[in-house]
Amino acid sequence: MPAIIVVGSAWGDEGKGKITDFLAQDADLVVRYQGGDNAGHTIVFDQKKFALRSIPSGIFDAKKLAIIANGVVFNPESVLKELAYLHDNGVSTNGLRISNRAQVLFSYHKRLDELQEAAKGDAKIGTTKNGIGPAYVDKYSRVGIRVCDLLDKDVLRARLEANLIEKNAILTKVYGAEPFDAARLTEEYYAYGQTLAPFVTDTSAVIEEALNSGKRVLFEGAQGVMLDIDHGTYPYVTSSNPIGGGATVGAGVGPTRIDEVVGIAKAYTSRVGEGPFPTELFEGVGDQIRDIAHEYGVNTGRPRRIGWFDSVAMRHAARVSGLTKLSVNCLDVLSGLGSLKICVAYELDGKRIETYPASVADFTRLTPLYEELPGWDEDITGVTSFEDLPENAQHYLTRLSELVGVELFSFAVGPEREATHILEKLW
Ligand code: IMP
Repeated sequence: MPAIIVVGSAWGDEGKGKITDFLAQDADLVVRYQGGDNAGHTIVFDQKKFALRSIPSGIFDAKKLAIIANGVVFNPESVLKELAYLHDNGVSTNGLRISNRAQVLFSYHKRLDELQEAAKGDAKIGTTKNGIGPAYVDKYSRVGIRVCDLLDKDVLRARLEANLIEKNAILTKVYGAEPFDAARLTEEYYAYGQTLAPFVTDTSAVIEEALNSGKRVLFEGAQGVMLDIDHGTYPYVTSSNPIGGGATVGAGVGPTRIDEVVGIAKAYTSRVGEGPFPTELFEGVGDQIRDIAHEYGVNTGRPRRIGWFDSVAMRHAARVSGLTKLSVNCLDVLSGLGSLKICVAYELDGKRIETYPASVADFTRLTPLYEELPGWDEDITGVTSFEDLPENAQHYLTRLSELVGVELFSFAVGPEREATHILEKLW
């Protein structure tokens, strides 16, 4: 079983880092294929909590390669900070590889993201303001600057000079903001490139070689399927493709090489930022869950919006990502909450619908239809197998898996590495 993709099945923050870290223990390569430092992966092991943004969790094992692939928008400044943080914590970073084809995210992308969000007022997307959208815009406008360009000072300067003509006009004339200086940026980013050069390579070729020699490759998605630029709740989405297929484009591997796509879900739902969220809970249980599970953004500290498990959104995620397995995290959070609701369908204009609407406007007229299941009061944090869970918790998990139509692979009863329990081994 050499290639597995892990994706977040909803709006991100499902605990992908934890499952990736868990599967990564037996992987040889861990590959990040999209997004950038908008992601915040928290990994807890050896009683220590680590927060990563761009570097894949495979970095914690010196024998593995941790790859930042071509589909990522690569912020060298923040990756260097992450490397320093890892060094300070005694983690070796020799296994890092960075794609020479990844797009570079510059400080002006971040600035534009901030200004564009502010200008949108109430219509803002609620981005992380890390410059992700503007960096992908440049990629698709074919003016992006790639990691390979960081290594050639003349190319870098020429591209920055060309790009900043338009960027500075927008910054100064549209937003009344300060312009950026091409010469200064060239020096700054060339220096980053020089420090990072030993890690830079053709990562697609590295992955192919590994697959051909029977090595185990884990592809780690950031964000979640419902934030996908094509299949998410557009326009309240990120600017990349977190879905399973994103791994093949974003890492340079063919779809025929992939064996399993594991979708990570929480036993409930959470979302940060603006946009539709049909099962959102505005008080009571929602507040309780937020407090119990400390549902605040890893990077931004924003309180996450909380809702019941939405099997309509999850079926959508399963379809567009080709999920073959389902991992359910945070089951312990639901202990003692009384009876639990699962959204099984929606009602829109008097009609029952089972698929996720495309238009954001539909969500103002939509009501979730729920099935109610009995909860459990036992503390389940020490449970180590499915069979040891209270009967109602077993029933809840089985029902989620049935409704989503994807086989249950694992459940987690706490944030630690040891609190994730699998029903079968994938490799
Ligand atoms: P952007 O990716 O910063 O452009 O933000 C676009 C949307 O994606 C916003 O709703 C963000 O809150 C959301 N988002 C981006 N990264 C993450 C993440 O790692 N977890 C959860 N939501 C995210």
